[in-house]
Amino acid sequence: MNTVFEPYRIKSVELLKVTTEQERKALLREAFYNVALLKSDDVLLDFLTDSGISAMSSNQWAAVQLGDESYVRSPSYEKFQQSLREIIPFKHIIPTHQGRSAERILASLVTSENTIIPNNAHFDTTKGNIMSMGGEAVDLLVDESRDLNSDYPFKGNMDIDRLASLLKEHSESIPLVFLTITNNSALGQPVSMQNIRATRDLCHTFNIPLFFDGCRFAENAYMIKQREEGYANIPVREIIQEMFSYVDGMTMSAKKDALVNTGGWLALNDDDWAKKALNELLLTQGFVTYGGLSGRDLEAIAVGVQEGVDEHYLKHRIKSVERLASGLDKLGIPVVKPYSSHAVYVDATRFFNHIDAAHHPGQTLNVALYESGGIRACELNSIKLDNAFDKPEASGRCLIRMAIPRRVYTQSHLDYVVEVFDHISKNKTRWSGLDKVSDADPLYYYGAKYQPVT
Ligand code: F0G
Repeated sequence: MNTVFEPYRIKSVELLKVTTEQERKALLREAFYNVALLKSDDVLLDFLTDSGISAMSSNQWAAVQLGDESYVRSPSYEKFQQSLREIIPFKHIIPTHQGRSAERILASLVTSENTIIPNNAHFDTTKGNIMSMGGEAVDLLVDESRDLNSDYPFKGNMDIDRLASLLKEHSESIPLVFLTITNNSALGQPVSMQNIRATRDLCHTFNIPLFFDGCRFAENAYMIKQREEGYANIPVREIIQEMFSYVDGMTMSAKKDALVNTGGWLALNDDDWAKKALNELLLTQGFVTYGGLSGRDLEAIAVGVQEGVDEHYLKHRIKSVERLASGLDKLGIPVVKPYSSHAVYVDATRFFNHIDAAHHPGQTLNVALYESGGIRACELNSIKLDNAFDKPEASGRCLIRMAIPRRVYTQSHLDYVVEVFDHISKNKTRWSGLDKVSDADPLYYYGAKYQPVT
């Protein structure tokens, strides 16, 4: 059978508010034509992020009821440890309240004025945490990642040659190397096992630890199974084990592949770093056995992380995102290829080629999607993109990201998105761009205000 079905059924539903186009036009006006300023209950399908909005399973909700809120060493903490240990092999697993808190702690251990931290591409918060402590965060993506249309299967890869030169020149300033899997800032593209291994080999030569930013590690593993020679018949759990066997630690936002609404962890092997990390956790987030989370959050992670590595779940997840992307592709919508696992990216500059870059084709596409179908996406403008691609050619690029929440929407919701795009595509000249009337703080880039070009 070829139908890829949701490997779950629905027990409790969340009703959606259905609005008219006229109502949405008024709401957009009130939100200064910035969809991020819309109230979320005015949005029909919300693709702003895939983070923290997964639908939890009945087993997770049942586990929530078992949450033990004792201050120290509650059974919930033991379950968290036990469940994670089946999947990730690190000696120390430290709960944190989300991914960036794990990054903050790690950065505080290793960063000073002259520190350089290489990554295939840092996520904004990873980069921000390093920079705020005086360090330099360097992105070393492979060149293939710059071509939005090439079929290169692992555009998230680290450029091994550039990493080698950096390590040769500055190894004494580099306390660790990061690999972000999948590579969110490189448009959700995966990293191959071969590249993980090559990065590890290089790091070993210089005696420098290698860490994953592992928010979407399970999706990355599934894409290795799909795309890399020799892995098609290997169970995802074994692929994950191999991936982790090459690294010395990880930061994790459990809000992605662990299928929960909040949580994260810092995991590592080094005893000395772990001791310092636990001190930092204690000072800033909470006691070492809960790290700012409640017992029920730890329970939900313990169950969610197991469900997140299930092959049936991953197959449906990745195939349904592929189906959305290929539906748009068939209509001639310029989608980024190969498709990623957590989001569909559309090249807004090419789609709205009648709108000048100065008139924000990405935000305009966001407005068109909301106006026509109540859909909310997120703009990736050239400032954000060039951060990762650090190449002048990338300037002026403007994409939108439709990040797909896990287990939240059904196939017909995604088919509806294709229909809305078809409608916009046939009526493109209805939208003529936006002028920015006030800028946002760079850290809070969701806050800018616009008005339609007159
Ligand atoms: N690393 C990566 C690769 C991420 O994608 C994110 C979050 C984080 C770290 C930070 O984790 O939110 O738990 O503190 N990405 C979300 C997104 C916000 O929409 O892409 P966090």
